[in-house]
Amino acid sequence: VGRAVTKAVIPAAGLGTRFLPATKAVPKELIPVVDVPSIQYVVQEAVQAGLDDVLIVTGRHKGAIEDHFDRQYELEETLARDPAKAADLDRVRAAELLAQIHYVRQGDPRGLGDAVGRARRHVGDEAFAVLLADDFVDPADPLLPTMLRVHAARGGCVLALAEVAPDDVRLYGCAAVAATDDEGVVRVTGLVEKPSPEEAPSNLVLIGRYVLDPAIFAALEHTPPGRGGEVQLTDAVARLVDAEEAGGPVWGVVYRGRRYDVGDRAGYLRAVVQLACERDDVGPEFRQWLRGFVAEQSVAGG
Ligand code: UTP
Repeated sequence: VGRAVTKAVIPAAGLGTRFLPATKAVPKELIPVVDVPSIQYVVQEAVQAGLDDVLIVTGRHKGAIEDHFDRQYELEETLARDPAKAADLDRVRAAELLAQIHYVRQGDPRGLGDAVGRARRHVGDEAFAVLLADDFVDPADPLLPTMLRVHAARGGCVLALAEVAPDDVRLYGCAAVAATDDEGVVRVTGLVEKPSPEEAPSNLVLIGRYVLDPAIFAALEHTPPGRGGEVQLTDAVARLVDAEEAGGPVWGVVYRGRRYDVGDRAGYLRAVVQLACERDDVGPEFRQWLRGFVAEQSVAGG
């Protein structure tokens, strides 16, 4: 039903206020999870799912993102001269060789919906994926390939959903859903951005992966600024659910793997600890230290 998806859009123009002061001069998408910036993980995730045409929406003070995916001639020349630095050179080049990366700027950070709207010319009349670097999905348990399969079979839009504790629903976009003939897929029947506990239709929230029909662009144009004066992507997708615009139906894939909100301090710390523990290089020593540290904390009653 759905045509093959080839393009990924990564909005990265937000202010990152939850991570100040680090994000005063450094784009939050470049803050590393162990030693790889979160945006590099999502570019890798897109490429591994077969989407090697990547558009990053950047803004003022985000030039370092472009530098990160560009050649760094002096550094590479210096590393190349020393055979002992071959692995370091590979790590530097990995970011440059990943994908064909394009950039568009969002002058004012007027919301995630507005950022996605900036992708219209690049995307054209094709379905496309949106990945948020804030939402870190365990690379060992990928989500995007399943979403792309659902899109190919059913068309429309596909959202990634996750179950959260009822108290946390107010932090996210929340979905009302109905079952389908496939246990792993739900039909989204309504969406509310950051609902109060009384308004929340479920404990299924949007996590930052979307496969969107190009009709979303018209929907975004008709979407007035919502919560916080920002144009919300959730509100635009809700228009497709309500069939005010073409582009539906809207499906949901419930992700049960590990994920972290790395735009938030606590989620960031969890992601760093998990990834550090699982790394072949730093992992063994870090795990041993962590065991001792946790034991010491418990003795201290912490
Ligand atoms: P967030 O809602 O996390 O906003 O954006 P933020 O401003 O980046 O961060 P906080 O909440 O102030 O700490 C979700 C994603 O949408 C992008 C962000 O870069 C992030 O990847 N975004 C948000 C934009 O590209 N433009 C915007 O106007 C807002």
